[in-house]
Amino acid sequence: MEKNQQILLAARPQAQVELSHFKWVEKDIEPPGESEFLVRAHYLSLDPYMRGRIDEAKSYAAKVELGAVMVGTVVGEVIVSHHEKFPVGSFVETHTGWQLYGKSNGAGVRLLPPKPVPLSAYLGAVGMPGVTAWIGLNEHGRAEPGQTVVISAASGAVGSVAGQLAKLKGCRVVGIAGGQAKCDYVVNELGFDACIDYKKNEALTLSERLAVACPKGVDVYFDNVGGPILNAVLEVMNPFSRIALCGLIAGYEDPQRLAVTNFRSFLVNRIQLRGFICSDHRPLWKPALEALAQGVASGAIRYRETVAQGLQAAPGAFIGMLRGENFGKQLVKLI
Ligand SMILES: NC(=O)c1ccc[n+]([C@@H]2O[C@H](COP(=O)([O-])OP(=O)(O)OC[C@H]3O[C@@H](n4cnc5c(N)ncnc54)[C@H](OP(=O)(O)O)[C@@H]3O)[C@@H](O)[C@H]2O)c1
Repeated sequence: MEKNQQILLAARPQAQVELSHFKWVEKDIEPPGESEFLVRAHYLSLDPYMRGRIDEAKSYAAKVELGAVMVGTVVGEVIVSHHEKFPVGSFVETHTGWQLYGKSNGAGVRLLPPKPVPLSAYLGAVGMPGVTAWIGLNEHGRAEPGQTVVISAASGAVGSVAGQLAKLKGCRVVGIAGGQAKCDYVVNELGFDACIDYKKNEALTLSERLAVACPKGVDVYFDNVGGPILNAVLEVMNPFSRIALCGLIAGYEDPQRLAVTNFRSFLVNRIQLRGFICSDHRPLWKPALEALAQGVASGAIRYRETVAQGLQAAPGAFIGMLRGENFGKQLVKLI
């Protein structure tokens, strides 16, 4: 009989995450109890928030205990069920973590329609990252047609959707991404107006290059990274502009990198900065997911995935994502 495979947190990183912080184990599959069901995972989502969950530092969510299965969301098929709402053969999005099989009582589980999008998209553009983009742009950025929106980590799961939503609203959209290939994709395939490769050595500084790409200044900055890129964008923000602070990936392994050197810009430009966490906005998920599913099904919202093969590849793919090696949504295929 097939066994379950799991990835456990073996040690807490002091700075950079390494493979030795994780442990792969095999064990018996736990049968579901009364009012529970068993899911065979097809795809595991790897997300930057997981870096915060393996640290000692206090955050907005509980940390993963040493020896516990790594936290994570999967999409998969119900293969045994004692729960009438989740029959055998149905597909779900659930939070069973880095393992092949997991049981659930249905709390927080999303039943997935077979159409209109591929299963893996429910972890990306039509899942948490897409909803995050929708909330950040519409609720916090409040981008208006004709305004200029800048988006960092622009080719990634959240940034790519945020930029396309801003384009659909009629904004000028400028991405920031690491490398020419990512920038070409952001402009040529996602339809952003411009994209700046922040890793490229140029005579102009990043803020000077932003000023060229944003001749009318920046009205909304959708910030996925913080750190030096935030400091550069602060140079070109308009009076009464907004920053939707979504993530700080530049500092997840070294918070020192998040120092704000351009604090004066907040006062001079009366900038409104709002940090947000997608799970605080549950009532918005339904309309957001409906709009995103429609956008993906119609081709108005496009996405790209980097897919690692097999559970044992998850730690390496996670480390790679923190270093920018992913191109689009980072997934692990488990079947
Ligand atoms: N607030 C919320 O509720 C919420 C929800 C989901 C995600 N987030 C945050 O949103 C951000 C993006 O998440 P995602 O899932 O879409 O990941 P992602 O963009 O698909 O992948 C992470 C990307 O971050 C970029 N990056 C890594 N280190 C960087 C650095 N030092 N400076 C600049 N960019 C760096 C890399 O792209 P480049 O190659 O372009 O550098 C990398 O590919 C993360 O900060 C995440 O924590 C927040």
